[in-house]
Amino acid sequence: MNRVYLVVIVLCLLVLTVTGVVNYRVNYRQSVTIDTVMNDVRGLSGDVSRGHYAAYAGGCIACHTHDVAGAATLGGGVPIDTPFGSFFSPNITSDDTAGIGTWSTRDFVRAMVVGISPDGSHYYPTFPYTSYTVMSAQDLVDLKAWLDTVAPVPVKAPKHEVKWPLSIRGTLVFWKALFADFSRTTEFSTRGQYLVEGPGHCAECHSPRHALGGLLSRSLTGNPNGPDGQPVPAITATALSGWTVEDLELFLEVGMLIDGDFTGGHMAAVIEYGTGLLTASDRREIAQYLLSGDNN
Ligand code: HEC
Ligand code: HEC
Repeated sequence: MNRVYLVVIVLCLLVLTVTGVVNYRVNYRQSVTIDTVMNDVRGLSGDVSRGHYAAYAGGCIACHTHDVAGAATLGGGVPIDTPFGSFFSPNITSDDTAGIGTWSTRDFVRAMVVGISPDGSHYYPTFPYTSYTVMSAQDLVDLKAWLDTVAPVPVKAPKHEVKWPLSIRGTLVFWKALFADFSRTTEFSTRGQYLVEGPGHCAECHSPRHALGGLLSRSLTGNPNGPDGQPVPAITATALSGWTVEDLELFLEVGMLIDGDFTGGHMAAVIEYGTGLLTASDRREIAQYLLSGDNN
């Protein structure tokens, strides 16, 4: 046989084997996490108003509701530009075909904690499931209860425009293998730590990423090249040394910086649809946790 053919065949076999092993390992890690959460979820019942609140804490409304007049809550279609292409958040209303109206609790849990769709494909990490992995079972069932009540919107969101080869969802298994940590820590020293690391997904924007889009750490030390190429400041205790707990609480409520200016861009949306709608005591928890330096 021609030597070139032999090399090609060996290379193909190698690629297939590596892909097989990676898929097996990621599937295994994902199923351990799903089983753990489903076990915790059993016996819990969801509460609609707590679920609505959890959606503020998780920033769901900012990403899934178009910021245009008349846009329906969670109707999707919000463009999110990244170095890998343009994403459009999906419709997550209770519509049976355009939204997620037919989803079971298990479908929802799988999407939220390991980024797997009901048909088994991988979600892009633009959907911050890498932080939602640690969301409490109660928050998850509450969110599901609320989502089931959100008025259906019969319009599907546009398709993502992602560059090849990432346009093939199967490639995301390698990203997950390298950068996603699906281990489920549910031990948080304070509610503030939980809100920052879990639902609030602050690290997704406030921590540095490398060229492949994986988080280098969850250190909150800032990202010079954040969403839309804009820099995101560090929010460690050291970086915030000029701030008091009260300054931070006010910032998380109305977006005012310590120099009296108002924040803009992505953080303004995080506040408007998220932290600004939390209770004063949750904002205090977040502020105290950031200034405690426990995350550094
Ligand atoms: C930073 C923006 C962002 C935030 C915040 C966000 N999402 Fe999403 N979400 C997305 C994107 C983008 C996708 C599509 C991912 C894909 O197609 O691979 C998505 C997908 C989903 C899906 C799968 C929908 C489907 O049709 O398959 C669900 C369910 C979902 N999000 C629920 C939530 C909930 C609940 C929250 C809040 C706790 C939330 N999302 C917060 C951007 C976001
Ligand atoms: C979608 C990305 C994104 C997320 C998620 C996000 N932030 Fe921000 N944040 C930003 C950006 C961008 C800025 C800078 C905004 C500006 O230039 O005015 C910022 C600014 C801040 C500042 C002001 C810091 C300073 O020195 O000016 C604080 C404090 C802050 N964020 C806290 C948080 C907390 C707490 C969370 C989680 C609950 C969070 N952020 C989640 C993008 C984000």
